[in-house]
Amino acid sequence: MLKLMILNGPNLNLLGTREPDQYGHETLADVESMCREAAVAYDYEVDFRQSNHEGVLVDWIHEAGQLLKRGELAGIVFNPGAYTHTSIALHDAIKGTNVPVIEVHISNVHNREAFRHHSYISPAAAGIVVGMGVYGYVLGIHGLAHKLG
Ligand code: DQA
Repeated sequence: MLKLMILNGPNLNLLGTREPDQYGHETLADVESMCREAAVAYDYEVDFRQSNHEGVLVDWIHEAGQLLKRGELAGIVFNPGAYTHTSIALHDAIKGTNVPVIEVHISNVHNREAFRHHSYISPAAAGIVVGMGVYGYVLGIHGLAHKLG
């Protein structure tokens, strides 16, 4: 059984109450349930995590890299939150481990403030899902499985 890491960056623990017009009413626990349900089709073991700390996210990507090396990981579905727009460290972690990452954004970052239009993650990502609400996580899982064939 391959592992699937689903990583969430800063402020995503506030889902459900945070700017519902942008992010909807589902909580992060709801997102986790949706992901677990979607992953069954591929027999992935879901490891679902959230951190408000950039270095913790870097460490988790490194951990995923070790699993990948051992043939135990499918990849990562990753919503880096605001670190998307600032973090060269997360970009480097993905590049440095070669982990297949599907970048997910709940909101359409391209119809929001200009500072959300640039992503440091996208050039290192295997695929991107933007603006599909929390269903984007499910699309990310299907997309990753499809890419891995
Ligand atoms: C987000 C978009 C980011 O710009 C923002 O900082 C977030 C959430 C999204 O899921 O739409 O925290 O990644």
